Amino acid sequence: MSAGGSGAALWGALAASSALLLFIFLIRQVLRQRRPPGFPPGPPGLPLVGNILALAGDPHVYMWKQSKIHGEIFSLDLGGISTVVLNGYDAVKECLMRQSDVFADRPSLPLFLKLTKMGGLLNAKYGRCWTEHRKLAVSCFRNFGYGQKSFEGRICEESSFFLDSVDTYKGKAFDPKHLTTIAVSNISNLILFGERFRYDDDDFLHMIEIFSENIELATSAWVFLYNAFPLIGVLPFGKHQQLFRNASEVYDFLFQIIQRFSENRKPHSPRHFIDAYLDEMERNAADPDSTYSTENLIFSVGELIIAGTETTTNVLRWAVLFMALYPNIQVQVRKEIDLVVGPNRAPTFEERGSLPFTEAVLHEVLRFCNIAPLGIFHATSRDTVVRGYSIPEGTTVITNLYSVHYDEKYWRDPEIFYPERFLDSAGRFTKKEAFVPFSLGEERPRCCQRCSPAISRSDTNVARYKHRREVSGGGPTAGTPTHHRWAAVGMPRHRPCDKRVPAVGPPQV
Ligand code: HEM
Repeated sequence: MSAGGSGAALWGALAASSALLLFIFLIRQVLRQRRPPGFPPGPPGLPLVGNILALAGDPHVYMWKQSKIHGEIFSLDLGGISTVVLNGYDAVKECLMRQSDVFADRPSLPLFLKLTKMGGLLNAKYGRCWTEHRKLAVSCFRNFGYGQKSFEGRICEESSFFLDSVDTYKGKAFDPKHLTTIAVSNISNLILFGERFRYDDDDFLHMIEIFSENIELATSAWVFLYNAFPLIGVLPFGKHQQLFRNASEVYDFLFQIIQRFSENRKPHSPRHFIDAYLDEMERNAADPDSTYSTENLIFSVGELIIAGTETTTNVLRWAVLFMALYPNIQVQVRKEIDLVVGPNRAPTFEERGSLPFTEAVLHEVLRFCNIAPLGIFHATSRDTVVRGYSIPEGTTVITNLYSVHYDEKYWRDPEIFYPERFLDSAGRFTKKEAFVPFSLGEERPRCCQRCSPAISRSDTNVARYKHRREVSGGGPTAGTPTHHRWAAVGMPRHRPCDKRVPAVGPPQV
């Protein structure tokens, strides 16, 4: 055969095998995109990408709307990743509380596999790694933090640093985001590293910023596509690449500070989480199945920083924003604090119970603003049946916490901002069953690790803030940023010309 002939044959063979590969890929994809027998129904999806593109706007709102059509438990096809979405309080409770072990896993999505290999704490599979890391984190938060009486003093100290920094603006308008972020993260930093970071520590701030950017990137359509088709990881562009670059920078930074804070460590005399972790690593060194490792230390430190910071910071930002928007609420909060605490000292944790209106405002902010509208993705650890639907092991499960907070069966006029819904007729603070910003069930695996202290911390910080400062944003008609920017964490978006404000007032009977 001539050289030209063999070249053509080679090209022909190449084209035929590419066509065959494409054919196999398409068949495999069609099979992956089929709903398993008995699976919950859901909206039809596009070939290849399924329902991914529908999640580009506000996915929690899209899912809530879909639940009106397909039922509280419905399914989505995320490009071949079968996903069940739970909407409304009853459905979320039925799965997370009644079958808590079955729904306690995390999905092995390519993104999580690449970032944390399903280790660490927050993204760990439901098994030994999660159990050991969670136990250690809970005991460190108690031993080096909230369980210590002196810890409240350190929180007060941080509040004072924060307010002193606010004062340097001398009443001029400023964006409190960065100050709030470092001040809030410093509470966790005291437990993790035994020290706080200065507000002008640019390296730490940069780390938090790119970590927080990753939370936003993780919910982008690009990343859903990456989860469905991990091969796109070879493309040199796309938001997933930015996410990987950020993650590697964050892990390098965390590795350095872990080294710095473990200097002069005395084994078995831990000063903070890092020391306690290194003790566990040494204690389990001979165990080939030990889950304690430098890598898992880096992952869990990062997760503990960001889980506490991104959420609590945004609660405070929303709270300040609502105070600025609604001066009447601000005046009421201030009056209550002045009455109970007086002008010469800061409020304490214990005084929370005596500040029912302030507490009600914080709870309504958490309900109305939905800090983590879709929680963190769960997965089933074995085959199960819910309301007659079959859900196989390994299915990704999304808890639409936003839909719980807007569930009309439990909240009257949920779209209205109305703190008084948390007060009884005598003005006492009253808990609500369907209030689930931290997800459901304090004793359940996977519930937010610091449920109660997180809220009391925000409460006390708002109380301290209101105790010394007044905030203004020009009133509802002056155009104030109220947009909910969608990321895994709901945060206020700054759009100075935006004139839309949420409705406020008593629910209509
Ligand atoms: C207002 C503040 C906060 C909100 C709204 C919030 C919300 C949540 C939510 C919705 C989850 C998902 C639970 C699930 O998977 O079902 C979660 C998990 C978690 N949160 Fe929070 N959180 C807050 C503050 C904190 C703080 C201060 C910490 C402490 C560092 C923290 C640590 C964690 C951890 C470690 C997890 C993962 C739990 C696990 O997988 O075992 N959170 N949080």
